[in-house]
Amino acid sequence: MLFHKTPYAANFRYPDRYKEGKISIGNAQLSASVTAYEGDIYHLKVTADHLWTEDHNLVPLIAPKVSDSSNLSIGPKFEISLKDGAGSVLLETIPGFGFGICGRQSIFTFAYDKKMKFYGMGEKTFGRMELSHIRSRFWNVDALGDHPGQVWGEHSADPYYVSVPYLIVRQGNTYLGLLLHNPYETWVDTGTDPSFFGTEDQNRKIVLGSEDGMPSLWILVGPSLAELTRKLQKLVGVTPRPPLWSLGYHQCRWEYKGDKHLMELDGYMTKHQIPNDGLWLDIDYMEGYRVFTYSKEAFPQGVAATIKKLAPNDRKVVPIIDPGVKLEPGFQMYDEGVKKGYFCLTPEGQPFVGFVWPGETVFPDFSKSNVREWWAGYCKTFREEGFAGAWVDMNDPSTGAVDPYSMLFNDGKWSHGSFRNQYALGMQVATRDGFLKAKPNERPFVLSRSGYTGTSRYAAIWTGDNVSNRFYLKGSIPTTLGLSLSGIPFNGPDVGGFMNDTTEELMVDWVKSGFLFPFFRNHSGGSHRRQEPWTFSKRGLHIITHYTQLRYKLLPYLYQLFVAQERDGDPMLRPAQYHFPNGDMADDMFMVGPSILQAPCNDGNGQRTLKLPGKQWFDARWGKWATGKLSIQCGPMDTPLYFADKSIIPALPGVRTDNAKDLTDVEFHIFLSAGSTETDYIFDDGESLDYQKGKESVINIRASLKGGTLAIDTRQTKSGFGELTGMKFFFYGEAKVIKLNDEMVKAKREKVTWTGMPISALTF
Ligand code: NOJ
Repeated sequence: MLFHKTPYAANFRYPDRYKEGKISIGNAQLSASVTAYEGDIYHLKVTADHLWTEDHNLVPLIAPKVSDSSNLSIGPKFEISLKDGAGSVLLETIPGFGFGICGRQSIFTFAYDKKMKFYGMGEKTFGRMELSHIRSRFWNVDALGDHPGQVWGEHSADPYYVSVPYLIVRQGNTYLGLLLHNPYETWVDTGTDPSFFGTEDQNRKIVLGSEDGMPSLWILVGPSLAELTRKLQKLVGVTPRPPLWSLGYHQCRWEYKGDKHLMELDGYMTKHQIPNDGLWLDIDYMEGYRVFTYSKEAFPQGVAATIKKLAPNDRKVVPIIDPGVKLEPGFQMYDEGVKKGYFCLTPEGQPFVGFVWPGETVFPDFSKSNVREWWAGYCKTFREEGFAGAWVDMNDPSTGAVDPYSMLFNDGKWSHGSFRNQYALGMQVATRDGFLKAKPNERPFVLSRSGYTGTSRYAAIWTGDNVSNRFYLKGSIPTTLGLSLSGIPFNGPDVGGFMNDTTEELMVDWVKSGFLFPFFRNHSGGSHRRQEPWTFSKRGLHIITHYTQLRYKLLPYLYQLFVAQERDGDPMLRPAQYHFPNGDMADDMFMVGPSILQAPCNDGNGQRTLKLPGKQWFDARWGKWATGKLSIQCGPMDTPLYFADKSIIPALPGVRTDNAKDLTDVEFHIFLSAGSTETDYIFDDGESLDYQKGKESVINIRASLKGGTLAIDTRQTKSGFGELTGMKFFFYGEAKVIKLNDEMVKAKREKVTWTGMPISALTF
């Protein structure tokens, strides 16, 4: 795909006049609303009776309070200009361009400067963080099915499963974000040369356009990347605290179908001391791929009986749920859906038919609230059977070889394009709701393939069908960071790769690279090499087990990041620039929260260079402080993993050989070369919604190192979930004297273990 075509700015017509909310373009009259919100956030919305009258967004954004001060001004031809507090221009339209229309298409263009840098754009596979000179489309596809094999094998495929038309523009260390909140197909251009031959520099622009639908542009000013990301996340909705088990290790394969596989997996996980929470069922567990059924052959005693057998090891079973309903008179869901008019229709009013696993298939119309309600009822039953979560797949929606455009929504009143990008979102909303209906006080867990702005509130995303190769392993870092900066922080790839045969080397590197990603699941296609940990050599198994155990050890820390996501909007994974504003964003390293930096050796040659940001980091491999530029050799067992100076990491005690996780029994690992640091450790039951009613506890921990004396203070500042039952400290630094100064130590000395210092290296 040489050109990857998008509409061209010169074909649009721009306003002749703008006054008091009215835009004139030739004879056309449009209305514009421009609103300033607190926090340097702006919203521009255009309506036109002859073009776009309805807002098809399913989930409204959560705008902050309206503000009476504004740094955004609109000129007499609807020219947009945004300044910073000191009056310097941050973003402006080019004279003669700006907002424009071409038929039902609309466009916002802004002046491009080659010093600008671009990031975000949701789920993309360009293999890099920085996204200058890219034309990209936002139209949910079944990437593997809809792009030619030559494209997705080793190259980026665009568009992809998830559509979040959000562009981050960086100038120096000032960041701003542009979000199109329009569910129709959209596109973004980050200053490409339209001629393709390098002769049209003067025509480079920043473009955000929509094929149809009400133009709706949000402009957010950071100014820092962290402030910008928090503002965006609060606008699109934060990810609610997930169940703790969902942060564990998940084992999946397109082959597992029932009792036999699940019990086998359970046995292997226990035998090899691999902590594991989720066991996943792919489509073969169903009766002839009929959604919300299960095969009697796969579950001879029923699902509930199998789930009961897995309970002693606390394994959760997560089934795949596809939206497509088998077209089969006599199949209850089909009959009900037809009778009640619940399926997407063609222009002539028949249920639209596509092809998915069961053959001819019809599709629930998730744009309708009664359909979401109906779907939720089935999900409720599934939860009541014992399935702990839902894996919602094929919701792009995938229709096989059938062209989807005649699949209409809202009783045939809405075009395909008006809702396609939100189809998965509608399914996520309904699925989450169904799980809540079954267990109103339990945190649901839904994993989805496709998504849209707002998905963060309902589901986590896995990045779909990747390939077992280095292109996808390396690309998993910018892809997950792109999603994280675009308001979908709970995400992760199929570890090991889904398509083609993985190798032990690749698998091990993927685990070492991804073991602290927000979502951590090993999944593979059934016709390819098996990739469960025990299918590799003893050494491979040992390494995979080690890093899985390390993830579990660090679960209390990961959990704090999810708590912070819900409270403040910070993504769990972030580029180093989130905390260290200077420098370019690297494509091959990332931070897990504020305190851990990872720079995996993903090239396959066991080496890399790394420039550590900021001052110094504790190198977990060598047990000593590291700083500046490093030339790194990676052994088969290890991975470059660094802990920030002045940080306190909560962890589970000892080596984690199973999935037990009691957040009240923890170790605190203190990394402190000098000065002081503090943290709040928050804990709750990890599964219910009681924390929303105050059933959580907070311990404040402070450490300071002065004149060779390390002083540690702990103070319980909230007790809604009781007290810690165990607490140990590990210190990484140099001190001669240790002072434990706190109320808890005095009152409950027996519950506190002091392991002494210095500890030369992490016992990880
Ligand atoms: C497509 C999904 O992306 C993949 O993960 C799954 O294994 C297959 N569908 C079969 O259900």
